[in-house]
Formats: sequence, structure tokens, C-alpha cells
Amino acid sequence: MSVGIDDISFATSNFYLDLKNLADVQQIETDKFYLGIGQEKMGIVPADEDVVTMAANAAYPLLQGIDKNRISTLLFATETAIDQSKAAGLFVHGLLDLPSRCRVVELKQACYSATAALQMACALVARNPEQQVLVLASDIARYDLNSSGEATQGCGAVAMLISANPRLVEIDPQSGHYSEDVMDFWRPNYRSTALVDGKYSTKIYLKALKQAWTHYHEVSGVEFDQLDYFCYHLPFSRMAEKAQLQLARFCKSDADCDTLLAKIEPSLHYNRIIGNSYTASMYIGLNSLLDHADEDLSGKRIGFFSYGSGCVAEFFGGRIVEGYRAHLRRERHRQLLAERQELSYSEYLRFYNFVHPTDGGDHQFAEQTRGRFRLAGISQHKRIYSPRS
Ligand code: HMG
Repeated sequence: MSVGIDDISFATSNFYLDLKNLADVQQIETDKFYLGIGQEKMGIVPADEDVVTMAANAAYPLLQGIDKNRISTLLFATETAIDQSKAAGLFVHGLLDLPSRCRVVELKQACYSATAALQMACALVARNPEQQVLVLASDIARYDLNSSGEATQGCGAVAMLISANPRLVEIDPQSGHYSEDVMDFWRPNYRSTALVDGKYSTKIYLKALKQAWTHYHEVSGVEFDQLDYFCYHLPFSRMAEKAQLQLARFCKSDADCDTLLAKIEPSLHYNRIIGNSYTASMYIGLNSLLDHADEDLSGKRIGFFSYGSGCVAEFFGGRIVEGYRAHLRRERHRQLLAERQELSYSEYLRFYNFVHPTDGGDHQFAEQTRGRFRLAGISQHKRIYSPRS
């Protein structure tokens, strides 16, 4: 019996800023963003969109026409928590009308926790193959204005249904791990934006890659050249290029640069125009690979590198299932992205500077999101979610 991803979909805000506008305001060349970090647009959330609405929007299509009673567990990975106590997944549980026998937990370790959720889900399904686990990863990446991280903001959510004998990707049981107590990127509870030592964070990412790969190689025996494609954590798409070239050198692969980069190129399309979505980022990369690869990926082996600052990293493998193409949601993803609305720089500032009220009063938010679910208001410190009218 194999265990893995039976269905997958993502959602993001329907608003974005083209990084050309940010470059113009900062009086730098657009190519620093388009080519230097490999990012073109970043998703920006309106007042009535948050990690709950994006996650519910990502998960909704997966739940149509299936028996929800098989879903034993909902794991919600995020570092954009909306409450110190209640799991964000409980709001999704309500919006999606999931059974009361489905347990719900939130997980945190920067961008890594979606992979912790995936591995826990696989373990649960291996224990009882009748059950399915819904893994949600949802985040809004926010840095200070005019900081080096500003151009790497973004937002998105991914939903994955984990089951026995999956229709899309079988996840291998072996994986390599690396953890180290470092301060490369963090967000104290009293801040709404992350703090980051940017250049140091990229060095730690690459160090963690080498260490996690070494562990993975020891436990699996898999060689670099046996992997057909790679999905890296994507804080910005150039990071994956640096990672791929470094790993190839470390593994002494003699493939040329173009051949190596062709193994990651299909995974980068969505990230380039959505931006960093922290926990969701690598799995939106997987969506991109599945949706964009020209060749039929059936039987291909994928290497996954998940990284969360602080830091925890994991390298693991998966195999694409024969016939996967019939179960993709490519058109839905393309339509979602095609229908987004561009923001001017001043509109972006207005969105960025909006702060949800904390006074305990009754507040309603104007309808801006075009997703199925929205944050309608906050009343007496309670978030009120509803389907869009
Ligand atoms: P920076 O100082 O703005 O950029 O910071 P730079 O000066 O290093 O330039 C970037 C690249 O653009 C360079 O190329 C330049 O040469 C090139 P490289 O040396 O890297 O090959 N460049 C140009 N290229 C073409 N035309 C031009 C041009 N000008 C310059 N005209 C930095 C970049 C990534 C540090 C910044 O964006 C940042 O701080 N980002 C946030 C932190 C981050 O994303 N770190 C990644 C690793 S940590 C991680 O992945 C975890 C994370 O997702 C959080 C979590 O786990 O929760 C962040």
C-alpha cells in the first residue's frame, strides 16, 4: 500500500502588486526583482481575506463529491496565526461543514510546518488506510516597507487530501532532517511583520539543504541523478536555482546548468506571480510542477526540500502516479490567477496599512475578495466568517 497526496489545490488573494511599481518607487531597476530574485508579482490580501478564507477556498473543491466522514483529521499549518489559543482550522471546519468526529490541530515551525503536517498525515493514514487527512497550509508573508524583504512578500494557501493509494503523488517513507537554533528570520508575538537577516537566511537555507540531503541519502540510498524533478521551498524563485546548483555540485552531478535548472523550472511559475506563501510555498510549487510540466510525469521521482527558518529542514522523495493528469485542477488555478486585479502602489499601501480593529466593537468589512469565503467582520473580538453573498 502506498500513501500520499490524493488531491491538491491552492488559493491566493485576487489582488497583486507588480514589482515593477515597487522598483519605480524605490528607483531601482525592475530586473533586480524580475531577474535578480526571480519575482514578478506579489499577492496582497484585502481586509476580508486571511489565512482562514484562503485555506477554505483552497480546500472547497477537494471536498465536492467525496465522503467527508472519511476525513479523520484536519491539520492546519501556518505562521500567520489569528489566535493564540484556537486553531485556525476550526473556522475552516465550520465553513466546510466537516464532520464533528474530525479532529483539528494547528502546527507551527515557520515555513516548514506543512511538511510536518504532511508526514503526520501519512503516518495516520498508514495506521488506518480507511481514513483521509486534510492538510491545509496558509500564510501571508509581510515584511517592513522599504526593507530588503518587501519584494518577497506574498500570500497563498494549499489544500491536500492525504490517503492510501493516492491518485497524484506517493510519498516515500524515508526522509532526511536538519534542525538548528538560529535567528535568520522570526516574528515576535507583538509584531505583524517578520524580522530577517536576509543574506544570512539564504546561507542557512543552503547549509540546511546540504545537511538534510546528506541524511536523506544515508537513509534512502537515493542518488541526486535518480531524481527527475525537484520542488524546493520558494521564498523567491532564484533561491531554488541557487539550491539546485549547489546540491548538484555537492552531489558531484556532471549535468550542465540548463539541464539542472530544467528540473525545477516548471515548479516556479506560480511562485513568481504569487510571492512567498511561507508554509504553502513548496506545495504551490508542486501544483505548478504538476500543472506546467510538458511531459507526462507519470512514474517520475520528485525530490522535495522543505525549509522553515529558525530552523528545521527536511528532504524527502515522492513518485508521481500513473494517470495523475486526469485529477489536476489546472483550469481552476489558471482562472484564479488570470482574474486577479492589479493594485497601484498607493492602493498597495492602503491594503498594507489596514489593521484589523482590536477594540472589541462591532466591525464589518467591505466585500473585496472574490473567493467563496470571506472575513465579514470582527465583533466583540470574534472573527465572523461567511460565504460570499
Ligand atoms: P537584497 O539585498 O535586496 O538583494 O536582498 P541583493 O542585492 O542581494 O540582490 C539580489 C540579487 O539580484 C543578486 O543576485 C543581485 O546581483 C541581483 P545574486 O548575487 O543573489 O545572484 N541583481 C540584479 N539582477 C539583475 N538586474 C539587476 C540587478 N540588481 C541586483 N539590475 C534578499 C535579497 C533575499 C536577502 C531579500 O530579498 C530578503 O531579505 N528576503 C527575505 C528573506 C528570505 O527570503 N530569505 C530566504 C531564505 S530563508 C527562507 O526561505 C525562510 C522564509 O521563507 C521564512 C520562513 O521560513 O518562515 C523567508
